[in-house]
This record gives sequence, C-alpha cells and structure tokens, in this order.
Amino acid sequence: MNALQEEILQLKKDKNAVILGHNYQRKEVQDICDFLGDSYGLSVQATKVEADMIVFCGVDFMAESAKILNPQKTVLLPNLKSMCPMAAMVDVEGLRGFKAENPGVPVVSYVNTSAAVKGETDICCTSANAVKIVRSLPDEKIIFVPDSNLGLYVQRYVKDKEMLLWAGYCPTHVDIHLDALKELKSTHPDAEVLVHPECTPDVIDFADFAYSTEGIIRHVVSSPRKEFIIGTEANMNHRLRKEAPGKMFYAVDAAICPNMREITLENVRDSLLRSQHKVELSDEVIAKARVPLERMLEAGRQD
Ligand code: 13P
Ligand code: SF4
Repeated sequence: MNALQEEILQLKKDKNAVILGHNYQRKEVQDICDFLGDSYGLSVQATKVEADMIVFCGVDFMAESAKILNPQKTVLLPNLKSMCPMAAMVDVEGLRGFKAENPGVPVVSYVNTSAAVKGETDICCTSANAVKIVRSLPDEKIIFVPDSNLGLYVQRYVKDKEMLLWAGYCPTHVDIHLDALKELKSTHPDAEVLVHPECTPDVIDFADFAYSTEGIIRHVVSSPRKEFIIGTEANMNHRLRKEAPGKMFYAVDAAICPNMREITLENVRDSLLRSQHKVELSDEVIAKARVPLERMLEAGRQD
C-alpha cells in the first residue's frame, strides 16, 4: 500500500464508508476496494451495505443502480467523467418511440442504461444473466436495449423469440478485433480464449467461451488450463492474476475502457474528503427503475 492508499483506507473508516469497484478499475484503485465484481455482483452487494456511504468506483449507471437499490445511503461517484458511452446511446424519448412502434412488446434493458431509461422497461439484465432473463419471458418478441451485440449473443441461445435490437454498442469491446485474437492464439496455441458478450459476433464465434467479467474470473479459477487469452477490458488481468496466481493471461492491447480509467486514487480520496459527487435521483425515478432491477436480482445469475 502506498501513502495515498493508506490515507484512503483511514478516511473510509472515519466516514463509515464502503468502496465498491468494478473489475475494470485501474489496478491501484482495485487494491483499495472492499468488494470487486461485475455489474450483477455489484448490484447485489449494494443491497447488503451497512455503512453510511458507498464510494462507487465504476461508471455512472453502476453508481445509479447502487443508489436505486439502496436509496437511503449516500452514493458517491468519485469522477463525473466516468460515464458509460453505451448507456448514453439510448434515451427515454428514443425508447418510447421504439416501444410505440412495437406495442405490447416487453422491454429488457441491459443495466448499462440510465436510471430514467430503466424506468421505461420491464426487466433489467446483465451479461451474467441476459440469456436467462430473455428465456424467462413468455413473449415471442422482445425489445432489447441498448447493446446490439449482447442482444445478438442472446439470440444464439433463444431461438424461439425475435429480438428487436437497439443499435447501441460498447466502443471498447467492438475494438477487440478477430485478427488481434487470432494473432494471440497463434503465439499461444494452448491458451483458452475467453471473451465478453459485448464483443462482436465474429469474435464470439472464435472464442471458447463468452462470460460476464465475473464469469471469466470464475471460469479461470476453476479451469485446469494454465493459459488464457482475455477478450475484454485489459485491467481485468490484475484481478485475474490475483485470483489465479501461476496462470498466464494475454490481453488485447487496445482493450481499454477510457471511462473506467477516469477514476484515480486522488479522485477517491477527494470523494471521501468532500463527499463528492453524490448520485442524486428523484424519488419517482428511483421508484420506477427499482422494479426492473429487483426483477433481475430475483432471477439470479446464469454464469
Ligand atoms: P460486467 O457486468 O460483465 O462486469 O460488464 C460490465 C461492462 O460494462 C462491460 O463492458
Ligand atoms: Fe461501457 Fe464498454 Fe466501458 Fe463497459 S467497457 S463501461 S460497456 S464503455
């Protein structure tokens, strides 16, 4: 631990705060988190917090979910620039238009959406349970927002439903190109290829498995294999090395989420010192967004 990390741990005690962090955080930020996980795990964890304050080291929609599920707590996002561009690809007005064109069709929202958009939808999902959630619905057509690649991934496993996809995508995951994975595989032929379902279909075809970030970690820990090519954000490798020491991980160089990287140790310290930046949502938005989020949590995860 360096001096700044020590300072943060002391401030955290003084303020009775807990630090939740996503698996893509910078490694020095991961090391001061009380809990690290994927979007699903972080939502579950947010419901269990006893501390007065949650400092959320992730992107905007994740901090919002923590607030929605635990509205009486103060939730802080250390850097307001930490915003998911895919979540910004769908807004309430656009979604209402899509719904009007497809009356009666239920809407599944990937958690990578704003609280206001969630409130317009029937049930949320994460990459840890998207197939399970879509399968659980009795309807023949499903509107799925905003990630078209995750929607296409679900469609592979749910053949009896028609997925009406929003045209959103993750800029970081669409930059993980098949050629880059093939090159890594030619250098490391024994490595298993694990990717995130936000990747494009050609990349998913090439991979051995597609999982949420926590699903990738679980797979690596339990696998007898020793080498892995990781087709998701490269900071994941820090946690993978900790959870599975002795195993080898090869990342695609371009796979950096600049938005997740916005949060630094300095931001976290300042956030605790000044109680900034508070996630503020109206009671109405919270009440509406809570319904699809809680339905998702009741369904559990699939990976
Ligand atoms: P996970 O829920 O799998 O951690 O993914 C979140 C995310 O934003 C992936 O880009
Ligand atoms: Fe959003 Fe993609 Fe970054 Fe995940 S990796 S937070 S989906 S931009």
